[in-house]
Amino acid sequence: EREKFLEGKNILITAGPTEEAIDPIRYLSNRSTGKMGYALAAASAKLGANVTLVSGPTNLEAPSGVEFIPVRSANDMYEAVFTKFEKMDIAIGCAAVADYRMKEYSASKIKKNDGDLVFELTRNPDILMEMGRRKQKEQILIGFAAESDNLIENAMKKLEKKNLNLIVANSTNAFGNDSNEVFFIDKEKNILEIPQMKKDDLAFKILETLKINL
Ligand code: C5P
Repeated sequence: EREKFLEGKNILITAGPTEEAIDPIRYLSNRSTGKMGYALAAASAKLGANVTLVSGPTNLEAPSGVEFIPVRSANDMYEAVFTKFEKMDIAIGCAAVADYRMKEYSASKIKKNDGDLVFELTRNPDILMEMGRRKQKEQILIGFAAESDNLIENAMKKLEKKNLNLIVANSTNAFGNDSNEVFFIDKEKNILEIPQMKKDDLAFKILETLKINL
């Protein structure tokens, strides 16, 4: 039985990939499964928090006892997050939000022809960065950084740029895996290496860092 140290705390978690529609039947997305975010939501609920899970499309079932807000696109996720963010004590950006969407959505199915097809993409909003911008000093913000190269250096830059309290840095190899080997980096640039563990256990490890901030 765990100590319910998140009792009474409102926590928002984004999870999963986003889907950026190309036409009525096609979309751009990524290989995120949502496992880490759902594990964080389930763990937060077990620790007594009021949990809001904003999730892109996944094959996972929403953990019991959490407010579940399913979304598709990055813009949908942005809207859902910012109707809730103000009331949150803690927010964790775990979603693999698509950085780009189609510049123009095609309302009818795109027909093939013999030549190449070129898509123009436009930037999606950075949801976590916007949370960092709006963050009040008593709110705690945690983000993730999945990097193929220069993991620590890039994660530190993101921590700063997005005004986070903590960033969880992992290699891109973690996508779709049940376990993950990560580093925690805080605002004071302390780096903590976390040994490989199941995402369910890692979720509790991440939430335990909140103990010192509460
Ligand atoms: O900049 P990068 O995408 O690597 O940052 C990763 C972190 O930012 C993750 O916590 C992710 O959930 C969040 N993010 C976001 N909105 C975006 C892109 C990333 O919330 N458009």
